[in-house]
Amino acid sequence: MHGPLSDLPNDVSGPTATQRWSASDFAKNGRFIHDMAAPIFALLAPKPGERILDLGCGDGTLTAEIEAAGADVLGLDISAELLAVARMKGLSVQQADAHALDYVQEFDAVFSNAALHWMQSPELVIEGVARALRPGGRFVGELGGHGNIAAVATALRAVEKARGGEPERAVSWYFPTTEEFETLLSEFGFAVHELAVVPRSTPIKADMEGWLRTFCRFFFDRFEEPERSDVLKEVVALLKPSLCDTQGLWAVNHIRLRFSAERSTA
Ligand code: BEZ
Repeated sequence: MHGPLSDLPNDVSGPTATQRWSASDFAKNGRFIHDMAAPIFALLAPKPGERILDLGCGDGTLTAEIEAAGADVLGLDISAELLAVARMKGLSVQQADAHALDYVQEFDAVFSNAALHWMQSPELVIEGVARALRPGGRFVGELGGHGNIAAVATALRAVEKARGGEPERAVSWYFPTTEEFETLLSEFGFAVHELAVVPRSTPIKADMEGWLRTFCRFFFDRFEEPERSDVLKEVVALLKPSLCDTQGLWAVNHIRLRFSAERSTA
């Protein structure tokens, strides 16, 4: 079991920069994550009494639903700010780095929604998930797949290059192909029962600037004001022809990988 990890930073560190989360921005701009989750929740099919780990639980929106299904759920996230919101919901949560899971055969299922793509060494995460599951335990979830939010990633690289930076270091999300992800799961002893590419255009209900400030904070935080606002406007201007329709409605193009796998019984 993890001990208290209050010294962990409220971030996800990548090779280039650090992603920090604001609970209020996440509540305003991250609603789509919960809205898109019904199919994977059905795939998880939590049962009363099952011990389930919600990996990258964020503010606990889905953790609460797993609990409501009668499961004994533990939420785990690296963001202290998002976990504070989850704790206010009365959920059992811990701050920990998913790269260093030290549970041994403790869970019937590990669930992860829209979190794995923030993790820089997925092989470490999946190794820890395999160890944390009981033999025959389920690993169910969704992450960004190859080409996810491609316009956003390309705009960030273009702006980075225009400012003299290295475009290939502008973003570091893990968006694997189905082949890459299946190979990784198999390497750690998982039998893959479902692995589907799910393309989806997701309307931005608040505003594009807010979405970028929430989900690409690692990129914009490297600039001081007033440059930061200029960079944000440049990115929005680059995205507008592709992501904003003639009615002024914005949407981002998600390509998610939805998976269900079973840990070997050995
Ligand atoms: C997503 O797939 O939900 C996502 C991935 C990276 C940044 C923002 C959203």
